[in-house]
Amino acid sequence: MNKLFKGLVVALGLSSSAFVSAEVVGDVQAGKDKSAVCAACHGADGNSAAGNFPKLAGQGERYLLKQMYDQKEGRRVIVEMTGLLDGFSDQDMADVAAYFAAQTTTVGQADPELVEEGRALYRAGNPATKMAACIACHGPSGKGVEAAGFPALSGQHADYTIAQMKKWRSGERANDGDARVMRSIAARMNDREIEAVASYISGLSE
Ligand code: HEC
Ligand code: HEC
Repeated sequence: MNKLFKGLVVALGLSSSAFVSAEVVGDVQAGKDKSAVCAACHGADGNSAAGNFPKLAGQGERYLLKQMYDQKEGRRVIVEMTGLLDGFSDQDMADVAAYFAAQTTTVGQADPELVEEGRALYRAGNPATKMAACIACHGPSGKGVEAAGFPALSGQHADYTIAQMKKWRSGERANDGDARVMRSIAARMNDREIEAVASYISGLSE
């Protein structure tokens, strides 16, 4: 991890103890077998069919692992996954994360009515409301920054992205660290802006 990102991760308060101590190396092939139970909702290759289930394909390994620990240890509640990871060891979680990270995300099509507004918000933020540009952390093509645990957003279902932004705005999702990065950004966005940026993200790639 380079110095800048290490600094960012510390500054954002993202490094939970489990996240840092998980120095287990994931095995893609073993992860494929262990991911069978995930396929019903997330798709066999991590490209889920329904918009309420996030795509995991091509997501950063560190981010995937962090979400799994956050869930297992109660920092992120996902009702549909209740108890699912109880039997998963650190090695199992590392394997499954490695498998999904190695898959390729499918990219959708942004709504033509929303794409321009979404692009502007993603790339330049909204100076009027002091909303930060997404591009700063999630990257120009939505690939995120693996080393810093900034998730990839490229191709994600708009419904899922909208749901997450609203959960951050209401505080229902609160696992973005002590700096509350995503909670404070979402608090500055109205429903229309959330929809526009989510639509843009669903079609965003290289
Ligand atoms: C019964 C359906 C279901 C199954 C089975 C399931 N998940 Fe999920 N998962 C969900 C839902 C729904 C969400 C998102 C909930 C929300 O809106 O926050 C989610 C979210 C996640 C996330 C967070 C993704 C992100 O982008 O932040 C990860 C990681 C994850 N699941 C991993 C797994 C793994 C690994 C398995 C198999 C061991 C699995 N899930 C099985 C329904 C499921
Ligand atoms: C200063 C850095 C930063 C900026 C700017 C930023 N994000 Fe994030 N974002 C993060 C981090 C860090 C996380 C992961 C939090 C966690 O570990 O759960 C995240 C997570 C997310 C997620 C959850 C992904 C998932 O799979 O569940 C979405 C959606 C998201 N951001 C959208 C946005 C949008 C839209 C913008 C611009 C309006 C934005 N972010 C701006 C740092 C940032």
